[in-house]
Amino acid sequence: MGKGDNGGVMSGKTAVVMGVANEWSIAWAIAKAMAGAGASLAVTCLDERAKRATDALAAKLPGTRVYQVNVEADEELDAFAATLKSDLGQVDALVHAIAYAPAAELKGRFLETSRDGFRLSHSISVYSLIAAAQRVVPLMTDGGSITTLTYLGSERVFPKYNVMGVAKAALEASVRYLAADLGEQRIRVNAISAGPISTASARGIPGFSTMRESLEDRMPMASAFTADQVGSTAVFLASDGAAAITGETLFVDGGYHVMGM
Ligand SMILES: NC(=O)c1ccc[n+]([C@@H]2O[C@H](COP(=O)([O-])OP(=O)(O)OC[C@H]3O[C@@H](n4cnc5c(N)ncnc54)[C@H](O)[C@@H]3O)[C@@H](O)[C@H]2O)c1
Repeated sequence: MGKGDNGGVMSGKTAVVMGVANEWSIAWAIAKAMAGAGASLAVTCLDERAKRATDALAAKLPGTRVYQVNVEADEELDAFAATLKSDLGQVDALVHAIAYAPAAELKGRFLETSRDGFRLSHSISVYSLIAAAQRVVPLMTDGGSITTLTYLGSERVFPKYNVMGVAKAALEASVRYLAADLGEQRIRVNAISAGPISTASARGIPGFSTMRESLEDRMPMASAFTADQVGSTAVFLASDGAAAITGETLFVDGGYHVMGM
């Protein structure tokens, strides 16, 4: 893959963005922003259905590679890492935009969380960041940046977000521990805490529209809140301008999280 060179802040960098399902995916907004900033791109998706949709999207960003990876399968992660090594050689930025909780866990009271639901949501939404980092860090031979996506439900209670809130708290703690491990390799690890955005996953949370309405009512910023704003923040975190930022959770929510009422 030729390295991007359009004079943007990611010019000459290679980026791997995990978690594209369709055009509404935050991963896709980030991929578009990174390509616009000059990065050479590889994106991942879960299954064949998502691969068809992602291939069609990737055709709009010439040179973008698409890989199919289920983060629950170690052999798929290993094969992915080997392919990345032969296709890209070196990686500068990894974005992890993957989460899942069974629908049953997002319905009732948090008290009713099942052992299996807890395990699966933490494995897909938290451990996958660590599993991906284990494979991609060896390709970050000239330093790098790892960014994941989290939500305010990690520190405040949003009805029905339930086990996902606990998983996001573990994800944010994982960011801090990975940052401490990887600083000596000049690899930074951060989270973007995005406000509610209408994606396939978000629409699966029964309280989602109330979350979005609450944001629109209360956020200090008068302008609309969009996935593209998350994309441009991901570009900043992956760029040299963020060279001293690591272990951080950066809110991209129009300022909603600072409000008391
Ligand atoms: N949409 C929001 O309001 C919002 C707000 C804050 C944070 N986030 C976070 O952003 C990230 C991306 O979510 P999104 O809203 O773009 O939804 P999305 O549904 O477009 O993306 C979620 C992705 O996770 C993938 N995934 C699930 N299980 C997987 C597995 N086993 N292996 C590989 N991939 C798997 C899905 O295929 C999908 O591509 C998630 O971490 C989500 O929690 C979303």
